[in-house]
Amino acid sequence: MQVIAFISGKGGVGKTTLAVNVAVALALRNKRVLLIDLDPQNVQRLHLGMNPEEIAGLTREGISHSSIFDSPFGIQFIPFGRITDSELEDFETELKKYPSWVSDGIDSLNAGSFDFVILDTPPGPTAYLQQALVAANRALVVVLADAASYATIPKITSLVEQYTADRADFFGFNILINQMPVHNKLSHQVRSSLYAGFPNQMVPVAVHKDPRVSQALGFERPVLQYEPGCQASLDIQSVADWLLDSIEQ
Ligand SMILES: Nc1ncnc2c1ncn2[C@@H]1O[C@H](COP(=O)(O)OP(=O)(O)OP(=O)(O)O)[C@@H](O)[C@H]1O
Ligand SMILES: [Mg+2]
Repeated sequence: MQVIAFISGKGGVGKTTLAVNVAVALALRNKRVLLIDLDPQNVQRLHLGMNPEEIAGLTREGISHSSIFDSPFGIQFIPFGRITDSELEDFETELKKYPSWVSDGIDSLNAGSFDFVILDTPPGPTAYLQQALVAANRALVVVLADAASYATIPKITSLVEQYTADRADFFGFNILINQMPVHNKLSHQVRSSLYAGFPNQMVPVAVHKDPRVSQALGFERPVLQYEPGCQASLDIQSVADWLLDSIEQ
């Protein structure tokens, strides 16, 4: 089983969108995938058509077979859950005390139940990022090809090093560009700088900016299901292929 954390220094770069869609792409390749929402925004479920009134999730039930929901898109998921502000405060206090709570929860699932566990996190340095990195075998740092995203990379990669230090089962981080515009000179310059600065970490395919992505969310489904032939869907399929290849190596 491979645990993959989608992380970023900057918010709104597309972690949730890519976590959901890469999970669906892996399921299309006959992998058994569990998606876990580690973000109090609790929005991952909206990509999966879950009843908005549902309050169950990670915060109430933890990580166990009974907290897993089925989606119509070939993957299973654990939503963050809907809780009050004071419950959230208590939950985060506990997470800080037990940095391996998520990791232990994943280990408690029957060995062999899943090929991939994909973790979605909020942006920046949080208790959720720490939990995700303690559990992960690999981190995907999602960035936009812009100066602001570029500037956040040293901080997020130093957190990766801090929370994964000395773990033989952590295979490193990769950088994945999302929302890549076709015609924008500055974005192409930033992309070149990323490849020059991180020659061994760059995911060799960028996911293009594509209006179908937000349309799909409007229809409460992954873009891979909403419009399988659009540019973003094709790019995401390539990311899934790259991921499987790089794990096999
Ligand atoms: N490739 C893309 N093309 C066009 N729009 C995109 C693409 N990827 C993501 N978006 C849009 O960008 C917005 C932010 O995406 P998303 O919520 O996945 O980001 P996030 O990194 O999870 O945000 P947060 O940091 O708040 O958790 C959404 O409106 C989404 O539809
Ligand atoms: Mg998100």
